[in-house]
Amino acid sequence: MPDFEVSSASPAEAAADLLVLPFFQGRKPGPGLDAVRRALGADLMAHLAEQRIEGKVGEASTVPTFGRLKAGTLLLLGVGPKDQADASSVRRAMMKVGRTLSKFPTVASTLHQVGPEAQESAHAFAEGLILGTYRFDRYKERPIDDASKQKPRLKRVLALGDGDRRAVREGLRRGQIYADAANWARDLVNTPALDATPAFLAAEARKIAALYGMQCRIWTKPQLVRGGFGGIVGVGSGSINDPRLIELSYLGGGKSAPIAITGKGVTFDSGGLSIKPAEAMEWMKADMGGAAATLAAMRAIAQLKPKINVIAAIPSSENLPGGSAIRPGDVLRHRGGKTSEVLNTDAEGRLILADALAYLAEKKPRVIIDSATLTGAAMVALGLELWAVMGNDDRLIQDLLEAGRAEGEPGWQLPLWTDYRKNIESGVADVKNTGPRWGGAINAGLFLAEFVGDVPWAHLDVAGTAFSEHNGEYWPRGATGSPARTLIRYVEEQAKRGSARSRA
Ligand code: BES
Ligand code: ZN
Ligand code: MN
Repeated sequence: MPDFEVSSASPAEAAADLLVLPFFQGRKPGPGLDAVRRALGADLMAHLAEQRIEGKVGEASTVPTFGRLKAGTLLLLGVGPKDQADASSVRRAMMKVGRTLSKFPTVASTLHQVGPEAQESAHAFAEGLILGTYRFDRYKERPIDDASKQKPRLKRVLALGDGDRRAVREGLRRGQIYADAANWARDLVNTPALDATPAFLAAEARKIAALYGMQCRIWTKPQLVRGGFGGIVGVGSGSINDPRLIELSYLGGGKSAPIAITGKGVTFDSGGLSIKPAEAMEWMKADMGGAAATLAAMRAIAQLKPKINVIAAIPSSENLPGGSAIRPGDVLRHRGGKTSEVLNTDAEGRLILADALAYLAEKKPRVIIDSATLTGAAMVALGLELWAVMGNDDRLIQDLLEAGRAEGEPGWQLPLWTDYRKNIESGVADVKNTGPRWGGAINAGLFLAEFVGDVPWAHLDVAGTAFSEHNGEYWPRGATGSPARTLIRYVEEQAKRGSARSRA
């Protein structure tokens, strides 16, 4: 990870290999550009016009500096229309820089000065850059030839300017922690299921607990059996890789009720005996994206130390069709006693989450939030750039939507339409794990709702956003880390509100 520093050097004088200066749509100069234009004695806007570059977010052009600036290379970076420029334009523009710049060890920029709020923009500046530099190459034996795909050598980043230094410094620090956590979640998700087993996730949780100071408890299979976690055990029973329940607690809020978070940790989803077709399995190592985001959120929270309590209980099982696998028609008894009829072993996420939700509800938290790559139906409903949120508490849902927007990880609400409860009624058990295809994301939400009692709860279906199958404009192929940053932001906002209330 590069070091971020605030520097009052002028852009023309900044000692960096690459100088990144923003401009707005319509080729309007951003902070620092006029001074550099004078030092260079070149009409930079004419240069952009020549190349037909308007200034959309992330559009960029490099310019040689011929020794007239301290920096060797100048990158002119578009950030969109001036009246709309905000932290999210900064984040997206920096993601592009991170993705394409691989060879410059020191980068200086004024981009964090764009947007109305200094701290938010500095946060997005660091976050976008670190998210953009992410590469997953630990399984590559041979170095990659294409320079743009190589691990960036970025060492130092200078945020230029004399603005509110304290706000900028604070924004840079937070942005780094958020993006680092998201990149760590991406590593977990991108790691093949051969290696990323439930025991592996548990070991990773232990590591971050020791490193950042959290309590950690790992439930093994015999303990889960004794504890009545029939869903986690049942889903994991077809694999030789035994399931786990991973508990982490961060205690920064004295005796107050904690925020409880959980995430689906199916390390591989073959569908079980209701087996998936081959191509539907290609990305199912990513079926622990919700768990990874939850772990990453705990990691960042332990670093940021907000004044609030946060607990996590993350269920992890591998869904394989071994000889001891659960079968369609089986009935599982979940933590707390409720039973479910398994009609389709491929609707496994809700089975393991049911146990975790019931367990967390026992702890009387102020809210429960779960994140899960739960249904293809959520992807059909909202596409690949929005997660779906459902729940029994509108305040909580609105706060999560707000946190997602602030972090550039947007979501949209689906109704928890109680008339559809009939879709999951079972003849033999309390609920069944599948309903009709129509409203599949809602049916899954209604199943989960059965296990939270009267605790305020929200469910994020991140099947569409946790990973992308194709290289996109901002996200490369593979894991995105979503919704880790949304969760971190939500927790920080709650902690801020809590301390505002106690001051009042
Ligand atoms: N893990 C899948 C959902 C999924 C699909 C996530 C594609 C990411 C990309 C989940 O366990 C699943 O198989 N859901 C089924 C539920 C059905 C059997 C009721 C689905 O969505 O088809
Ligand atoms: Zn699944
Ligand atoms: Mn499945």
